[in-house]
Amino acid sequence: MSLAIISAMDVEMEQYLEHCALRASTERAGLTIHEAHWHGHDLALVRAGVGKVNAALCTQILIDAFDADAVLCTGSAGAVNPALDIGDIVVASDCVHHDVQVDFMGLPRGQIPFTEHRFFETNPVLRRRALKVGPTDRRVQAGRVLTGDTFVEDESQRGRLRDELDGDCVEMEGAAVGQVCAMNDVPYLVVRAISDHADGTSDLDFGAFLEEAARSSSGIVLDLLGGLDSDERLVPPGR
Ligand code: ADE
Repeated sequence: MSLAIISAMDVEMEQYLEHCALRASTERAGLTIHEAHWHGHDLALVRAGVGKVNAALCTQILIDAFDADAVLCTGSAGAVNPALDIGDIVVASDCVHHDVQVDFMGLPRGQIPFTEHRFFETNPVLRRRALKVGPTDRRVQAGRVLTGDTFVEDESQRGRLRDELDGDCVEMEGAAVGQVCAMNDVPYLVVRAISDHADGTSDLDFGAFLEEAARSSSGIVLDLLGGLDSDERLVPPGR
């Protein structure tokens, strides 16, 4: 299977580069695409950069140039669900743009005007497998990922997002990957490990726990791909 793996930061991409057998690298739009092999799968590994534009650009390039069967995205997130602690894992059930809001049209937060797009559901086959291979000493749960072009480090903003969108964690890329994948009809998955509580302590916690979050979230994706047959059907028959 051809699988594209995106992360925002070098420390996150390094986890994959350390484990996979690298074959070639190409440059596109300032991005380095590392082609690699992992348990019978062809991988394209890219550090996309932080934020939604970088994530969207990178996702479309990987779908076009690499003909990816699926796109996976890993990294850290701030907890919005108070039950989540640092080190816990959220396997996205869906992602939504928390910073898209067009009140005067009467649209709910996240709804993209003139489209049906609001919640971008992840692929159920990949999701189920990720939940199975997650570490046993951590809370690993399916949940809603909230995406926006801001680092959330404010208790009242976190509370508002939780109330309005029933989210579990906040990050800066997932819904952009999800939207591009939805527009191309390509399956996707986002796996996030909690690095902070999206409040006044986030600046310190993020720095302290970023690498651990990178390691655990990428570990889940590598483990799930290790158990995935190269001809596994990600899309139900008839679609
Ligand atoms: N990624 C990790 N922590 C985050 C936060 N608090 N806000 C946005 N993205 C994050």
